[in-house]
Amino acid sequence: MTTYFLALETSCDETAAAVFTEQPALLANVVASQTNLHARFGGVVPEVAARAHLQRLLPVVDEALRQAGVRLEQIGCLAVLNTPGLVGALLVGVSAAKMLALALDVPLVSANHLEAHIYACRLAAGRDIFPCVGLVVSGGHTALFHCHSALSFELLGTTIDDAAGEAFDKVASILGLDFPGGPAVEREALAGNPRAFRFPRSFMHDKRLDFSFSGLKTAVLYTVHGQGVAHGPPPGPGLLRANVAASFQQAVVEVLVEKARQALRQTGLGCLAVGGGVSANRTLRTVLEQMVKEEGAEIFIPPRELCTDNAAMAAIAVEKWRRQQWASLDLDAVAAYSGT
Ligand code: KG4
Ligand code: ZN
Repeated sequence: MTTYFLALETSCDETAAAVFTEQPALLANVVASQTNLHARFGGVVPEVAARAHLQRLLPVVDEALRQAGVRLEQIGCLAVLNTPGLVGALLVGVSAAKMLALALDVPLVSANHLEAHIYACRLAAGRDIFPCVGLVVSGGHTALFHCHSALSFELLGTTIDDAAGEAFDKVASILGLDFPGGPAVEREALAGNPRAFRFPRSFMHDKRLDFSFSGLKTAVLYTVHGQGVAHGPPPGPGLLRANVAASFQQAVVEVLVEKARQALRQTGLGCLAVGGGVSANRTLRTVLEQMVKEEGAEIFIPPRELCTDNAAMAAIAVEKWRRQQWASLDLDAVAAYSGT
């Protein structure tokens, strides 16, 4: 008999629900983005996000069930991403998942948002991808993992300051581009020369698998406004703006790809799985694919809609469900990442 899972994700500014089977096979993946609510603030406002999740979660769940052709009473397990994220936002999904699990009298399974980003590769591939190197590049995190199995992730390195996505968002703001910054910078970069400016590439040839993007952001700031000048009007449309966007994107891509290469070599693994919003970036995807080919390894990157935040990636819960690793009803929302 098929077990149907209902999964919820509310860690940041996307209200998401998905329905999948224990296979896992994805039946519905619904995401309500709050981008328009946060755009005028130039970033996600936690209280606004939490309130919007409250308003949107149940309609999003209804829509996911409708698209899957599954009734609520048929759901056999509730899955929720309970960490890391904005605590007030996470609480909405966690509370709803607990309430539904209790009302339906079915198990509750919790999962880690970063590990779920990697599991999106497994879901999209439809076959096992473990063990592998996992690269998560999102708005809040940049991390490399040795993924021993779907349930055993070892952190190899992480950012010591800004996340890659955060750098895209901040550079977009310096350039006067839309929020969220990643897609806007990517569009702008199309018209620019990636070699126009030589921006810093931190730790690029270090053995350590950590990242740092704050120096890069500052270099962009000074290139736009002048050395040591922190504020000023954004540049208008034109070659300068496009060249800065393209050169910045190139620096981020080179660092991410080089660190992923080092992680493959240091672990001796032959497979790279990539997830998180920044992995929707076409240049990053292309350069990663080239690197992996050079290394004689295999790469998994999910389709773009499974790179940015979604609840389908909570299919990692299937792995815990098989081992009866249920969460209890006192499950908490936890803001910071702290391994599993
Ligand atoms: O994984 P995600 O949706 O949310 C978090 O878990 O943080 O990642 C969001 C981040 C944002 O910083 C956004 O600017 C970035 O991913 N992003 C991109 C692209 N699409 C989204 N960055 C670069 N290029 C893109 N196409
Ligand atoms: Zn994410």
